[in-house]
Amino acid sequence: MIGVQPVKDAFVAEITGVDVRHLSDEEFEQLYAAWLQYGVLRLRNQSIDENELQAFSARFGPLEELPFGRMSEADKAKVKNRYVTQLSNILVDGKPIGGLGNAEANWHSDMTYVENPPPASVLLGVEIPPAGGDTYFADQYAAYEALPDELRVRIADLTIKHDAAHTSIGKLRPGFDAFDDPRDAPGAIHSIVQTHEETRRKALYLGRREWAFIPGLSIEESEKLLDELWDYAALPAIVWQQKWQPYDLIIWDNRRVLHRRDDFDPQSRRLMKRCQVLARPVHT
Ligand code: OGA
Ligand code: MN
Repeated sequence: MIGVQPVKDAFVAEITGVDVRHLSDEEFEQLYAAWLQYGVLRLRNQSIDENELQAFSARFGPLEELPFGRMSEADKAKVKNRYVTQLSNILVDGKPIGGLGNAEANWHSDMTYVENPPPASVLLGVEIPPAGGDTYFADQYAAYEALPDELRVRIADLTIKHDAAHTSIGKLRPGFDAFDDPRDAPGAIHSIVQTHEETRRKALYLGRREWAFIPGLSIEESEKLLDELWDYAALPAIVWQQKWQPYDLIIWDNRRVLHRRDDFDPQSRRLMKRCQVLARPVHT
């Protein structure tokens, strides 16, 4: 039996007694069930390498490739491992070895700008700065439940177009051109309220605030309604803060939670490795 200690009501659990390299099928099923129940799991002291991270993550389902955007095939071919993303501010030969740098990353879910966003993200802390760089998670089941009835009715049939062009630190992804009107943003359209495909619970599904647009509304109405919804997305009572230790492993349900990251001193080093699951496995 694996240990499952709720950290925050029905959101976030600490998993104990587990080495992710040696999980039986039965233990993995327990972990998977806990992940569905809590949305965010933390496992401490998982001193694993990239291959082990990839092998463990693949138990959640086939893996997604890195968020390449429109990177050329030639540049893609230079990437060492297409399934493990590095997030880092560390420079080697003057070039960053990973994405997101040291800047603050705004609230987002990963890759909601594609048709089928990854259900699971698995993030390993490798090098952690002495201060800053904390990651926060917000429960979007709870956000949906916190909405006033009137607002819930208003969004029942509305969608959001999720911008594919910018990262969560606001930088243009490779191959995208700048624009100044959210209606021009490229990206996938998803319902604002999503019924979780496995738990059948309803979640608010906002993706990210920047460059979002609600099709069918005027730009002013869209901006106003988005601001109104974002007031509920990260209420303090539904947010949990992760203070990283090296080799913390966090697995979140990207269908249910938003996350963001604090900035940190550019002089200190931070290195994270992440796998994303392309689709959920067929579970009985
Ligand atoms: C991510 C992400 C935040 C962090 O892995 O998708 O947004 O703490 N990371 O590095
Ligand atoms: Mn992210």
